Amino acid sequence: MIDKIKFAVVGCGHIGKRHAAMIANNPHAELLAMCDTLNKEALDLSNHPDIAFYNNLDEMLATEKNLHVVCIATPNGLHASQALKVLEHNHHVVIEKPMGLTKTECEDIIYKSLQASKQVFCVMQNRYSPPSQWLKTILQENILGEIYMVQINCYWNRDHRYYKKGNWHGTKALDGGTLFTQFSHFVDIMYWCFGDITNINSRIKDFNHHDMTEFEDSGMISFDFVQGGIGSIQFSTSVWDKNLESSMTIIGEKGTVKIGGQYMNEVEYCHIMDYEMPVLPPSNPPNDYGQYKGSAANHHFIIENVVDVLRGNSTITTNALEGLKVVDIIERIYKAAK
Ligand SMILES: NC(=O)c1ccc[n+]([C@@H]2O[C@H](COP(=O)([O-])OP(=O)(O)OC[C@H]3O[C@@H](n4cnc5c(N)ncnc54)[C@H](O)[C@@H]3O)[C@@H](O)[C@H]2O)c1
Repeated sequence: MIDKIKFAVVGCGHIGKRHAAMIANNPHAELLAMCDTLNKEALDLSNHPDIAFYNNLDEMLATEKNLHVVCIATPNGLHASQALKVLEHNHHVVIEKPMGLTKTECEDIIYKSLQASKQVFCVMQNRYSPPSQWLKTILQENILGEIYMVQINCYWNRDHRYYKKGNWHGTKALDGGTLFTQFSHFVDIMYWCFGDITNINSRIKDFNHHDMTEFEDSGMISFDFVQGGIGSIQFSTSVWDKNLESSMTIIGEKGTVKIGGQYMNEVEYCHIMDYEMPVLPPSNPPNDYGQYKGSAANHHFIIENVVDVLRGNSTITTNALEGLKVVDIIERIYKAAK
């Protein structure tokens, strides 16, 4: 068994720094290198003063021969091409969400990973939130019976405080859209719990982000679940001033559940035939970016899973096929959009 899994992180912004911190805190992990196109001084990497730093991924991959795994935490539109480079150098890869911006890109990654016999870990850390884990369990145990309807509401604020000129956020090429950047976690939880969707009707609008983004800020999507039942996703980043909620309401044959809070972090309603709701452990707080808040700060679970899998003790919590499926669903929602 490998004693320490040797990591590098590409993209040292908000989330790359979290990966680096979680790697540094894990007794079976070692951070060997970091890479960002910005200079080290501009990035505040004072927590990692002795770690080799590169401005170029190719240079890092050519120089660092002892790596086992590279975490990619760059803008969305770079994930696929960088993952391919990492796999070509025979390293495992952790890809921040989304895995890519098209299904084709994700297929290329899977093809290359199979050729190189290397693992692809996708980051969907909301799966580790206690309400998500609980929901998955009661669905697996068929406690809700047949699922009739699933309604997902994602109402967040992302305004000029978030979309700054010159940043990758808001661009079609590097961001891709609100379903990729803001709400892919909730598409993932939906897919993880209820499976694939079909017969998609999709209406998207740009209400008040014309001068900030190249894509929609809001949408109303309805569909059938392939396994039965109907569903909808309502989403917006046009909520004034601050996030309102991310919630999922499930109407089943034997009961009703609503998971809510700002990022599906609490069970707001549970009324199920012959069932008593257990007390869940508290959820981790959201990633806090100062003026706005994101999804649950569960990244330590991701690094723990990478270490456990590569030391032969576990299976991947979100594998490449699931990462691809989330991208595929989002791509089909956008293609169906009127
Ligand atoms: N899992 C989550 O909850 C979560 C939360 C936020 C962001 N993310 C994802 O993490 C990724 C990064 O988001 P962020 O908020 O940290 O963005 P960020 O802008 O803070 O950081 C991105 C970093 O990548 C660097 N970069 C850009 N091009 C590069 C290149 N070619 N090579 C190396 N570095 C490059 C930038 O200089 C920047 O430092 C995105 O894909 C985003 O969707 C995930």
